[in-house]
Amino acid sequence: MDIEAKIKELEKRNLDAEQGGGPKRIEQQHAKGKLTARERVDYLLDKGSFEEVDKFVVHRCHDFGMEKAKIPGDGVVTGYGMINGRKVFLFAQDFTVFGGSLSGPFGEKVCKIMDLALKNGAPVIGLNDSGGARIQEGVTSLGSYGEIFKRNVWSSGVVPQISVIMGPCAGGAVYSPALTDFILMVKKTSNMFITGPQVIKSVTSEEVTAEALGGAMTQNSKSGVAHFAEDSDKAALDRVKEILSYLPQNYRELPPRVECTDDPNRTDPDLKTIIPANPRLPYDMKAIIHSVLDNNEFLEIHRHFAANMIVGFGRLNGMSVGIVANQPRVLAGCLDCDASVKCARFVRTCDAFNLPVITFVDVPGYLPGVNQEYGGIIKHGAKIIYAYSEATVPKVTCVTRKAYGGAYIAMSGKHLGADINYAYPTAEIAVMGPDGAANIIFKKEIAEADDSEATRARLVDEYRDNFASPFRAAELGYIDRIIFPENTRPRLIKALTMLQDKVDAIPERRHGNVPL
Ligand code: HXC
Repeated sequence: MDIEAKIKELEKRNLDAEQGGGPKRIEQQHAKGKLTARERVDYLLDKGSFEEVDKFVVHRCHDFGMEKAKIPGDGVVTGYGMINGRKVFLFAQDFTVFGGSLSGPFGEKVCKIMDLALKNGAPVIGLNDSGGARIQEGVTSLGSYGEIFKRNVWSSGVVPQISVIMGPCAGGAVYSPALTDFILMVKKTSNMFITGPQVIKSVTSEEVTAEALGGAMTQNSKSGVAHFAEDSDKAALDRVKEILSYLPQNYRELPPRVECTDDPNRTDPDLKTIIPANPRLPYDMKAIIHSVLDNNEFLEIHRHFAANMIVGFGRLNGMSVGIVANQPRVLAGCLDCDASVKCARFVRTCDAFNLPVITFVDVPGYLPGVNQEYGGIIKHGAKIIYAYSEATVPKVTCVTRKAYGGAYIAMSGKHLGADINYAYPTAEIAVMGPDGAANIIFKKEIAEADDSEATRARLVDEYRDNFASPFRAAELGYIDRIIFPENTRPRLIKALTMLQDKVDAIPERRHGNVPL
């Protein structure tokens, strides 16, 4: 055997595979402002840690002259490596090879990686840049998508799954990212849609560009399909690393705890005046969130969608936590359909991966309106209740101001199983807001008064001060402690430290039936 020849052959085949679709197509990829699949993998993983598999796989298609067009790797780079010293599995679709389109063997490569990730308990990252099902392969390609979807579902809640959309992602192909935990999109170069502009025009006569239909900002702000919109490939890959830093490798592990460089007993005098004296005035809930978290660092998720609800990751004394909060600056912090879905999805993500949930509450209620009712606020609002009741991770709640009606219960009220419930002295907790309540219970008194407006205002104030006061809830044990706002950080850390060894369970069943 000519060993030297064999080694030379391997070297040549390696080089061929690394060429992807060739220099011209790589140039075209760069001209669009995109990195190639291999450049993305190199940037994402710790230097030298990538172990590629299935580098020489080719398709088995004989139709449309495809037998003469075989490129090693067949349009997807797959393997495993490290991010900040932690194992990950990944696949990167290579648009320079058959437009990154998915053949049977391409799908088999992706499935192999997903199976390895599941068995070895590590995250899967998918870098998507593809024309979808390879047209020449027909149903073989569809079958492969089905195999991937099934694995996405099986992996859900077992290992974190992150999808980065870095080019086209069209047709049924969108359903693999849609089944994962986080979707990141790159502005201007990526889009996602079930049917593209041409099909839409022929079916509904609507004219729309690909960017307006399914670009990064559309899917981030209008549909809420995507969680992040990033300026470039590199920015998106940096974001992947940041997300992973808060998550465990799989559901059996706790999130990594980092060394805390911020004083756990740090108080913040600015919070003394954060809540305006006038309960109708808004304030920025993010100021409280940033103030309490380690080094004031908050990774906001779903930032462009349903801004009346804030969700994201942070750390308290080095422990990863999920933050959920109403934003009084937008729709007065009301819960509408979109905010409900955003909140519920995030709480379930945290619960799946052992992240404690910290909830800041300032919510006047569910948003009234015909559109909300027609849009299904009943079923969407129920999702919040479902998610919090089902979550067995540590749950700590802090009512900063309003907590009225069903929304008081839904936003991690004691009654849904929150472990520790705090309230600021400014909290207002009651069945409904003072205006509505006074109009009902003092109806007669207001109508009969000489100066009914002044009487109404006086009664509203009395109701707020006496009846909607947090001390009522504290007397009943629904609020565990009324805290000074400046002490929020140390109080949260004390509660979390106490809850570190929490063991909890919900009744056994095949699975719950979350209202969809
Ligand atoms: C085979 C494909 C392909 C596909 C692109 N290519 N998509 N080959 N199957 N699905 C090839 C092109 O023929 C071309 O090859 C090369 O990739 C680059 O494509 P271009 O069209 O030149 O690039 P661009 O102008 O940037 O346009 C990219 C694109 C467009 C928007 C993605 O190619 C496109 O519309 N493709 C079809 C998308 C689609 O309808 N896919 C099926 C979706 S349905 P050459 O050799 O000429 O350079 C689906 C069902 C999945 O995916 C169901 C799962 C359940």
